[in-house]
Amino acid sequence: MIIVIANWKSNGSLPAIGEWCGEMVDKFPQIHIDKPGCQVCVCPPHIFISEFADKLGSLVQQPASGFALGSQDLSPYAMGAYTGEVNAQMLKEFFGSYAILGHSERRTLFGENSTALSQKVKQSFASDITPIFCVGETAGEREKISDVLDEQLEPLLQELKHRPDAKAIVAYEPVWAIGTGQAATPKVANEAHLLIKDKLAKIELTNSIKVVYGGSVTADNAKDFTGMPDIDGLLVGGASLKADSLLQIVQNVQNMQNMQNLV
Ligand code: 13P
Repeated sequence: MIIVIANWKSNGSLPAIGEWCGEMVDKFPQIHIDKPGCQVCVCPPHIFISEFADKLGSLVQQPASGFALGSQDLSPYAMGAYTGEVNAQMLKEFFGSYAILGHSERRTLFGENSTALSQKVKQSFASDITPIFCVGETAGEREKISDVLDEQLEPLLQELKHRPDAKAIVAYEPVWAIGTGQAATPKVANEAHLLIKDKLAKIELTNSIKVVYGGSVTADNAKDFTGMPDIDGLLVGGASLKADSLLQIVQNVQNMQNMQNLV
């Protein structure tokens, strides 16, 4: 099952959310029934999570719908005196089941480090929230990509060693491809995914961990990525802000899935 994750970043307004959710509620259930090969997860800014939960209704309340809600970050702490933080328990109250952790924008602009990320992964596992753990090299780090991935994956791998049954997703987002219109080629992305899967295979996991690609994904290139053997889904920024563009990505991915199932 392919997963398409929408990262709204710091975008959105109440009218835009109303329109987006209205279109999803109208169209996604039928698309999912016709060709059920693709799940969707939307990760809005924290302040809009309750609005999404309300507007998407049964779509996010019933796991069988194929549609889920997540956040773009998570507190490294549980409930308590941590001003400004949104914790895993709160996310659960709004049917949130995923959390993007360690996005490169958080690593570079907000000083997210491995210590905080270990805590965040721990909190997400404790509340049965699936972390979408982001890694990826800068253009200058291409030559030493394996070392960069080792270092970035460390907090996730350490926590998974204690919880080999926990669910997790790794998002490979090369920094040079994010928001630039210069997506990685499917071949380059697949090679990085293979590298990540090799590193994951070194610890004994009972759950298989999906590895998804992010960075300038559009309706035009989506299926080229998911058509690759080691790419299990997509993390989409800009092209997820309009419902019709996200639905087009989902449909193109599903069509490719169906074609692959026929051969
Ligand atoms: P874009 O799809 O806008 O390049 O963003 C990718 C991303 O950072 C998703 O998390």
